[in-house]
Amino acid sequence: MLQLNQIYKVFYEGTPDEKVAINQLNLQLNPGDFVTVIGSNGAGKSTLMNIISGKIEPDIGTVMIDGSNMTGMPEHKRARKIGRVFQDPMAGTAPTMTIEENLVLAYNRTKPRTLNFGVTKKRRELFQTKLEMLHLGLENRLQAKVGLLSGGERQALSLLMATFTEPKILLLDEHTAALDPARAELITNLTKEIVSAFGLTTLMVTHNMQQAIDLGNRLIMMDKGKIIFEASEAEKPQLTVEKLLSEFQRIRGESLVSDRSLLA
Ligand SMILES: Nc1ncnc2c1ncn2[C@@H]1O[C@H](COP(=O)(O)OP(=O)(O)OP(=O)(O)O)[C@@H](O)[C@H]1O
Ligand SMILES: [Mg+2]
Repeated sequence: MLQLNQIYKVFYEGTPDEKVAINQLNLQLNPGDFVTVIGSNGAGKSTLMNIISGKIEPDIGTVMIDGSNMTGMPEHKRARKIGRVFQDPMAGTAPTMTIEENLVLAYNRTKPRTLNFGVTKKRRELFQTKLEMLHLGLENRLQAKVGLLSGGERQALSLLMATFTEPKILLLDEHTAALDPARAELITNLTKEIVSAFGLTTLMVTHNMQQAIDLGNRLIMMDKGKIIFEASEAEKPQLTVEKLLSEFQRIRGESLVSDRSLLA
């Protein structure tokens, strides 16, 4: 479903600020894979997401999605195949528009322009059915401005919008990080529900190691633009936070590694 070959990306090349963000990275996801991604700040996790979505072009390497070569294809042309939710609850939705208008936007994203039209009775019913999945009562607030929703409500809506049209790949970049523990848990459970309901191929960045272990069927650890550790579907059930830390310590060659240095 997703194949990254020899991806390399450097920022500010040839200046004192030169930074190799992704370094010869290879990754292959099979249909339905749910891969959690961990790694310290600056490891290259968000850059990897940006390269998959087409927000950033790699300097070297190819991105294949569902058998098509996407390298060099602009972000809006990939949007149909990719759903994305960011850390910032403000990023995925339009605050001055209503819930219904936001859903129309998400819905129309994958339709040819000529077929776009506003809200019909049938569509409103579809929106309400989808919103009911969130268990937040948003189905009764279709005319509410999204800017008035809480962070958790907005993330739930973002998640719904990102998966509305059943994309090939779902990219989640610390999408529960800005929420309080109860809301974060709600969004995590919703993520599990939606991913399994549609069998979505998913990459999820998290700074919560226990969450990275509990969710999904595979796990990767990134450091300095590379995948330094990977747990396969068979290995993942045996993982513990302690094992991940000692693996990071071994690879880094450091004697003192706390969860802080791996995660923050
Ligand atoms: N658009 C950009 N321009 C210049 N440098 C960038 C850009 N995007 C990322 N970088 C740099 O590339 C490196 C990787 O950044 P990235 O955002 O991918 O890390 P991350 O693993 O997502 O970290 P975090 O856990 O803090 O979100 C960092 O050193 C960052 O400063
Ligand atoms: Mg990031």
